[in-house]
Formats: sequence, structure tokens, C-alpha cells
Amino acid sequence: MANINFTKRDSFGSKFGIIAATAGSAVGLGNIWRFPYVAGENGGGAFVLIYLGFVFMIGVPVMLSEFTIGRRAKQNAFGSFKTLAPGKPWYLVGLMGIVAAFLILAFYSTIAGWTLEYILQSLTNSFSGKNSAELKQSFETFQSGTFRPILWQIIFMGLTGWIVFSGIKNGIEKYTKILMPLLFALIVVMCIRAVTLPGAMKGLEFLFKPDFSKITWGVVLEALGQAAFSLSIGMGTLITYGSYFNKNTNLATTAVQVSMADTFIAILAGVMIFPAVFAFNLKPDEGFGLVFIVLPNIFEQMAGGYIFSIIFFILLAVAALTSTISVLEVVVAYFVEELKISRKKATVIGSVAISALGILCTLSFGNLGDLKIFNRTIFGVFNDLTANIFLPVGAFLIVIFLGWFLGKKIITDELSNEGTLRIKLLGVFLFIIKFIAPIAIALVFLNSVGIVNFS
Ligand code: PFF
Repeated sequence: MANINFTKRDSFGSKFGIIAATAGSAVGLGNIWRFPYVAGENGGGAFVLIYLGFVFMIGVPVMLSEFTIGRRAKQNAFGSFKTLAPGKPWYLVGLMGIVAAFLILAFYSTIAGWTLEYILQSLTNSFSGKNSAELKQSFETFQSGTFRPILWQIIFMGLTGWIVFSGIKNGIEKYTKILMPLLFALIVVMCIRAVTLPGAMKGLEFLFKPDFSKITWGVVLEALGQAAFSLSIGMGTLITYGSYFNKNTNLATTAVQVSMADTFIAILAGVMIFPAVFAFNLKPDEGFGLVFIVLPNIFEQMAGGYIFSIIFFILLAVAALTSTISVLEVVVAYFVEELKISRKKATVIGSVAISALGILCTLSFGNLGDLKIFNRTIFGVFNDLTANIFLPVGAFLIVIFLGWFLGKKIITDELSNEGTLRIKLLGVFLFIIKFIAPIAIALVFLNSVGIVNFS
């Protein structure tokens, strides 16, 4: 019988709902905004190759580990560790995830707010007739403003809070099921337009032709951080979502399917962006604004660009929303289950606190631009610190927990749904989480200390 445990927790209602919500968390601005600009700043092809290696060697096993922990414990990220390792300090991993959730959502909601501005700009046809220098200029003027970007950010956090408040099945699942497939279809249309632009080949070469002279340990760390960020791993989001899976969910196939979907969309985003970067004489290392500068150029050159731009930015906002709800859910589940406050109160407190922190990130493109920590703006610190430090460290501790602490019996029970599924590749999985993943993460860290240049 469904879900009559003492905490009376909500859960996902269907298999497709689980995939849509989890892929919804993974697929977001990380794929469409972050992946292209990070790849652009780190030399393209070789970065992409290392990124792919990390997704499958480390990302999939960590994702599966998080599902295992969450579904076993049926608790929030913090509570899951407390339940599975009573009296041991493993709950600190969960706590670190909750802190990471605050920091990620603070800067993520800045960019998510930009997508709302771009919906409005599309509706008012404001890309039309502008050349690429003018499009860049208008982005920079908006981005460095005060009132508008903050207003959009707050609206976005409001939307996030509203869905999280509605709960799992009637909130998160209901929306992601419809909107994710639509986003995918539209990206494919955009890719077709991008690769038929004059000079598109140069962009595809940049994305797919590895130039290994560009690789440093700093680049490798960026690839690891990007893989973790894009897959939503390392901070308990997937522990939290895993806790809402039902007992028939096949954890391994879910992890593989979600990771493949996520990676495919990131690559498609690259195929959509880089041909246009070169076709319009922009630079691939344009930074945070890359997609917001490049995409309007494509729409401007596209038959039906007006309509496509409206649909596209709506879907980009939706992709962001299906990710922000998953991050806020980490915080809310923790508040509700550990601090025993109502879901409504938890959502309000979480959203307001994060928005306050988020305003600092938004202003770091304008009034607070000169405030630098480790040579980065507040936005830059939150972005780099979470993706490149918190998430990989979290991922490292999660695989260590599973591989060396949780015990094979629990892992086998979860992966086989209490013996009802045949598990393939168990040995490979255990070997990866015990040895390969932790050693690889540790190596990347040790080698990139100093190179990352946090000063
Ligand atoms: N994976 C999301 C994206 O690619 O946009 C961002 C994200 C969501 C990161 C949830 C971390 C997380 F826990």
C-alpha cells in the first residue's frame, strides 16, 4: 500500500513523473546557460570530452548513490544521513548540502530572473533590427541595472516557492511532465537554425575538436564542477527526490536515463550556441552573458524569430524553474522534517532568506560590482564555490559513505528493489564508488589547488 509511513510523506505518482521531475532538476540553466559559457572559457572540445568522462564515470554512480540513500531513508538530506548512520557525524554532509542549496539558489535566481526579462523583451519584439553590438549593449545595460533584475529575481523566487508549496505530486510533478518534452523539441529546432548559419562549422569544430594543449588542472576541475552542477549531484537534491520515489522505481535505469538526457541537452545547447557565436563574430569566452547575447542574434536572423524567441525564453524559464524547485525542496524538506515547521512557513522562510542573499548576487553585476572576494564578485564566488568545491566534495563524501559505510546488503536491496530486479554491473558500481570516483575527485582537487587561483 502506498506510503502509509508514520511521517505521511508526499511522493511522486508515476514513473514518468519521477523521470520528468528528476530530469527537470538536472536540466536547467546549467545546461543552457552555464555549460556553453564554461566550455567557451575553457577552450571547447577538450573540455567537453573531459566533461563527458566525468558524467559517466562519476556523475552516474553518484546520482545512483544519492537515490539509494534517499529512498532507503525516506528523509530529507540531513535526516537521511542521521537515519542511516545514527550517532555518526555523516549528517554534516547533509548540512553542507543545505548550505550549498542556499548559495546555489541565490545566484541561480539571478540568471533565472534574466530569463523573465528576456521573455518580456521577446514579446515586445525588442531584438528586431538590432545588430550584434547593439544586442550585447542592451543586455549589459539591463544586467547592470538595479530595480529590474531584482524585481525579476524576486518574481522568480515567488514562482519557485509557489510550486514547492503545492507539494510533490500536484506541484513539481504536474508541471515538469508537460514542459520538459516541449523544451527539448524547441532546442532541436534552434540547433537546426544554428548549424545552417553561414560559418557554422567553425563553431562545431570549437565544440567537438579537442585541443589538448588547452587542458590544465584548473580546466579539469571546471569540467568536474560543471558535471556535478549539471547533474544536480553532491548536495542532497537527489537524496531528497529519491526519498519521494516509490518502491518500484528502478534506481539504476533512472540514473542512467536522467544523466543521458541531461548530457544530451547540454551538448545540444552547445550546438545551438557555438555556430552562432562564430557566425556573429562574438567570442566564445564572452562569460556569464553568452546565451543572452547570442540567442537574440539567432532569433533576429530566423524566419519566425519573433514567435520562436517567445517560446524559447518561456521554456528556458521553465527549465530553470524545474531546477530551482528541486533546490528549494532540499531546504524546505529539511525545515519541515528537522525543524518541525509547516510546509507553508518553511517555503516562505526559505524563499525570503534566499532572495535576500540573491539580491547581493544580482547587484554584483551593477552597484556591487567592485566588491571582490578572491578576485571575484559575490556572484562569481557563489557560482565557483558551489560548483567547483561544495558539489565535488559532497559527491566525494557521498560515494565514500555508500562504498565504505552503508554496507553491501542495503545497497543490493535498494538497487534490486528488495530482490525483485536483477542487478547488472553491481561489481562495477561498487568498484567505482569505493575506489575510482573518490580517487579521481581527490586527484583533481589536489592537483588543482593553487591552479584554481582563489586569491
Ligand atoms: N542541475 C541544474 C542545472 O543544470 O541547471 C542546477 C542544479 C539543480 C544544481 C539542483 C544543483 C542542484 F542540486
